[in-house]
Amino acid sequence: MEKVKILDKTFETFIGSDEIEKAVKTIASQMHKDLAGKDVVFVAILNGAFMFASDLFRSIDFPARITFLKMASYIGTSSSGSVKQLIGINEDLKDKTVVVIEDIVDTGITIDLIVRQLKTYDPSEVKVAALLLKPDALTKEVNLDYVGIKIPTRFIVGYGLDYNGFGRNLKEIYVLSENQE
Ligand code: IMP
Ligand code: MG
Repeated sequence: MEKVKILDKTFETFIGSDEIEKAVKTIASQMHKDLAGKDVVFVAILNGAFMFASDLFRSIDFPARITFLKMASYIGTSSSGSVKQLIGINEDLKDKTVVVIEDIVDTGITIDLIVRQLKTYDPSEVKVAALLLKPDALTKEVNLDYVGIKIPTRFIVGYGLDYNGFGRNLKEIYVLSENQE
């Protein structure tokens, strides 16, 4: 088993390139069946989803647009103290089929926020594609239309996902070694 060290932690091989590629292709063909002919705008969530979005979008064989958004944390004056807001929307999403491209859904809190904020732009529908899902970690009832690979509740890096900013360039997905969790 191949191991990599990122900052202070050791990670080991978890999901290989072939499996990732297969999951991306499967999602692309499901999308072809559901979405071809619709007015589609893909919305990729930075930073983590950039690699998945790039591979997925290259596999899309119908006319569609793509744009990139980011969740920004604001330490605001709200009672909760911290407010997360989606930034970067300058496309017209009204009456479009919006397809969110997210790297991973863990508790579901982030994707729930993203979908709720996108709906305020009056799209005809909002669909969600997540490469990875940790089903046992979900705390929100979220509607995920396309899911690539389900994984146990463990910390992973690679293929766009990071540990403190590093590891995004790994071509495969690695999991934090058991004895370090
Ligand atoms: P959630 O709000 O708990 O669903 O978390 C989703 C976000 O947390 C994702 O968009 C990722 O940026 C990040 N995340 C969740 N799990 C992991 C992981 O295992 N590795 C790296 N980032 C993760
Ligand atoms: Mg993310």
